[in-house]
Amino acid sequence: MKNVVVVKLGGSVITYKHKSARGVNTHNLERVIAEMAETRKNLVVIHGGGSFGHSVALKNKVQFGKPISNNKGASETMLSMLELNKVVLEEMLKNGFAPISFPPHSFVLDKRIKKPFWQIFERAISEGFTPVTYGDVVLDQKTGFTIISGDQLASQLAIQLKAETLIFATAVDGVYKDYKSKNLIEVVDQYTNFKSITKDATGGIKNKVEQALLAAKAGVNTLILNATKPGLLKKAILNEEVKCSKIVWRNHGIQTS
Ligand code: IPE
Repeated sequence: MKNVVVVKLGGSVITYKHKSARGVNTHNLERVIAEMAETRKNLVVIHGGGSFGHSVALKNKVQFGKPISNNKGASETMLSMLELNKVVLEEMLKNGFAPISFPPHSFVLDKRIKKPFWQIFERAISEGFTPVTYGDVVLDQKTGFTIISGDQLASQLAIQLKAETLIFATAVDGVYKDYKSKNLIEVVDQYTNFKSITKDATGGIKNKVEQALLAAKAGVNTLILNATKPGLLKKAILNEEVKCSKIVWRNHGIQTS
């Protein structure tokens, strides 16, 4: 599909991710949605879980599936994500979007989006809706259920919809060499070394880079940027230069001239 931009709104942007109590960061949420609306582009929006996903998932050990966790813990996490999704949809509606929500637990199996389902995303876009989905608990053959991150969904959708750009909107400037120096790596490829500290249920920046590389390999322009800085997300959607990490795939040995 032409001119589609896929935006993953990180849980660290739209919620207070590292607090155990659930809370929406209304200030950031209102601004990033207003910025997206101003671009008037065809968007697909995926949001993360932040304090609505990770704290509930970790408390119930949902990331391990059964038998370590149980169905009730999985359901509690799904419900918490539905609540955050409703807040996001309401804010989008206020800003002129016609959002249409696709909860992953109803169309993802074993961490894969099945073909007929991503075609529904295409249809929704061509009907003028903005598809919205999010990191969630989904059924899994091996462990009964598992967590799919918003990052995994964003990269699968960007590839399947042949998006022009995939943006991971986070609360950091991009990929740092290490967290102490905050030395930004402006171009990240599959050989780049960086340190990843992971405290959440879906693998943090390491998983994000892995997913971003899959999209880059498929030819999608892929960025990780800081959406807590006003204006950056809007500029990136409009394909303007911003300070961020661009994710690229190197095809060594293949002549590209
Ligand atoms: C997490 O989704 C979903 C659950 C824990 C249920 P993400 O992994 O995409 O969330 P963020 O963006 O890191 O908060």
